[in-house]
Amino acid sequence: MNKHIPFLDLSQIPLDLKIALKEKFSQMLDKGVFSGGEEVEILEKNLKEYLGINYALACSNGTDALELALRALEIGSGDEVIVPAISWVSTAEAVALVGAKPVFIDTDASGLMDLDLLESKISSRTKAIIPVHLYGNMVDMEKLLLWSKKNKVAVIEDGAQSFGAVLKGKHAGTWGDIGCLSFYPTKNLGALGEAGAVLTEDSILAEKLRNLLNHGQTFRDHHILVGRNARIDSIQAGFLNVKLGFFSAWQKRRKNLVSIYLQELKDIASISLPQEILSPFHNAHLFIIKTSQRDDLRQFLAQKGIGTAIHYPEIIPYMKPYLDGQKYPVAEMMSKTVLSLPLNPWMKNADVKRICKEIRNFGFQTLV
Ligand SMILES: Cc1ncc(COP(=O)(O)O)c(C=O)c1O
Repeated sequence: MNKHIPFLDLSQIPLDLKIALKEKFSQMLDKGVFSGGEEVEILEKNLKEYLGINYALACSNGTDALELALRALEIGSGDEVIVPAISWVSTAEAVALVGAKPVFIDTDASGLMDLDLLESKISSRTKAIIPVHLYGNMVDMEKLLLWSKKNKVAVIEDGAQSFGAVLKGKHAGTWGDIGCLSFYPTKNLGALGEAGAVLTEDSILAEKLRNLLNHGQTFRDHHILVGRNARIDSIQAGFLNVKLGFFSAWQKRRKNLVSIYLQELKDIASISLPQEILSPFHNAHLFIIKTSQRDDLRQFLAQKGIGTAIHYPEIIPYMKPYLDGQKYPVAEMMSKTVLSLPLNPWMKNADVKRICKEIRNFGFQTLV
């Protein structure tokens, strides 16, 4: 009987990490500080140093980070924000939550917003654009910023999937006016619950974000804005501080595993591989293959005990709350063909080899 390989099972994190997390929990329980405090300050300092940015503010999750960013830039009713047609729903949801209109743009074949279509999406109401570094692969931020500066459009980077990706020496999330991160448990740097962060170089925006995420307070009982409780849990900050110590080693491991996938699958004509995944501007968050026989392959792998996932089976403008009656052919094609194979730093080389062997055993139809 072959070993079951789940898409991702977080109970399988290694023992040394489990011990370090338990130790952190025990220390925090003894200290009794569960909101704000030292661990949050340390996390923000760690993020600032690692990312090389002036301000990193920890918050409740990546969706709230996007909403806070939009509010800090005073985007709301009557405004338009350009977002990619394929992403996790939060990218568009945050825009709708502040009362603005998400204007969808089709993507290229790797799922990143197609920057050549920007001119057809801008209007006098366009206030911001949200590039999503989907699957961990960075949008060409140099090209995007040339356009956004020329057109006076603010840039909010959705870096929820791209922590650790670096383009031309600059981290994902540090290129735009505000960058948003998610530490959702399945991310490359994941909490043991919900968490996120907002990043900026701008002191005024940083102050506003700080107020907004804490009930519009500048200091205790002094409220100058209608804010939110979007603070991070201190316990999650503590866990993230522990996990940051392991992060670089995990990134190397992800890239090693990815090299095996690329090598073992390279001769299968019926699937397309994420060729850019070994570059520094990709953090190898997800290993996405594309095939027109996606659903059959997925079922076949499930029968062999191999879990997979689809990111994402439906594009956002085809979902009920976001319907706009337009077509997004490239993003739509992606939603029908992408398949995410298991990828996490705790997998064995042999797991990846076995997954590839099963994929080779799948009877790909030669399509005419
Ligand atoms: C692209 C993208 N944007 C936003 C989010 C929202 O992050 P969170 O789940 O922390 O709210 C996620 C993650 O789930 C994501 O993948």
